[in-house]
Amino acid sequence: MNNYKFYKTDDNSTGIYCEDMKDILHSKTGAKKEAFDKFINPVDFDEFYKNKNNINILDICSGVGYNLKAALYKLKNKSVCIDCIDTDINLFFTSPFLVDGFNDIDINLHLLQMIIRNEYSIFDIYNLIKKIYSLTNAEFFSPSMMNLIEFIINSFNINNGQLTKNQFVHNIYYNYISNSMYNELKHNIYKNSLIYYHVADARKYILETKKTYDVIFLDAYTPKKQPSLWTINFLSEIKKHIDDNSVIVTYSKSTPFRSALVELGFSVGKILVDESDMGTIASFNSNKIKNKLNSYDLKLIETKSGITYKDYNFSLSDIEIIKNRQAEQDISSRQSRTQFSKNY
Ligand SMILES: C[S@@+](CC[C@H](N)C(=O)[O-])C[C@H]1O[C@@H](n2cnc3c(N)ncnc32)[C@H](O)[C@@H]1O
Repeated sequence: MNNYKFYKTDDNSTGIYCEDMKDILHSKTGAKKEAFDKFINPVDFDEFYKNKNNINILDICSGVGYNLKAALYKLKNKSVCIDCIDTDINLFFTSPFLVDGFNDIDINLHLLQMIIRNEYSIFDIYNLIKKIYSLTNAEFFSPSMMNLIEFIINSFNINNGQLTKNQFVHNIYYNYISNSMYNELKHNIYKNSLIYYHVADARKYILETKKTYDVIFLDAYTPKKQPSLWTINFLSEIKKHIDDNSVIVTYSKSTPFRSALVELGFSVGKILVDESDMGTIASFNSNKIKNKLNSYDLKLIETKSGITYKDYNFSLSDIEIIKNRQAEQDISSRQSRTQFSKNY
């Protein structure tokens, strides 16, 4: 398991720092805010998905699920199917218990139920949560969800492991919860949403899946740290699983990544947050792209800095991908980024 540290972000949601990657998973200005600013709002679900009831989302690098929760929250009244991909199962398990700023127990109960439905063991979840809980500050964990997991484990023991999974899920809903909560859950607004957790390398998943998605969230570590999930080859595989109206959104504004999108024929735009360029949105339907890349951005792509990351067989390490790109830049006759900026 990676080593993580928790911190409180400016919107009171919990952010995570991964010591092994030496990188944060969430913006310090707000993990929840970031999910809406950079992943949900740019898609403009109100405008483009108002007449579509079944929405398929692929959440690449799902982590503790801020983008997933924000999507559920935004699409409460729709049937949503979300495939979440991450290599670290512990982050999935942590998701329902985290103080996330949503203040919405329905979302967390729904996620816990989905985790159990995805065949994950409640004991593993319990042991992990207890372990993290003992190592970190309790303020990062939701007291009601912590009580709930204690209750589940106790009732499971009492029943000597005799509960079937359905009875067990039933227990969560009907034994633990108070009447008022029960009444709310009878109308569980998220009940039409299906979440599937896939513990997998995103490259492997994309090669194997047969599904097509309306929306793709790409939330890998930065291209400079983890270029393997920003290569033109990974994007070409993603391209096989979208249609003309699908959108890809990400917090990254990396030039080689934008360059790969342009090369693959996407209409590409910036995600603006308070007028600043804070991410990228791409689609084959150019009507979906409000703030298209301008001539400066497009010319920048033609410089050395627009040389894409490549990994033809999904076999290279991140270091190899970086080295190969550097070698390609060294022999390229393109202008450097600095020369271009000076002359522009
Ligand atoms: C920036 S964080 C994503 C944060 C996440 N969206 C959230 O809301 O918590 C990057 C995530 O990528 C995952 N990851 C790293 N390499 C991966 C790979 N090859 N395939 C899938 N997930 C990966 C990490 O475990 C980590 O959770």
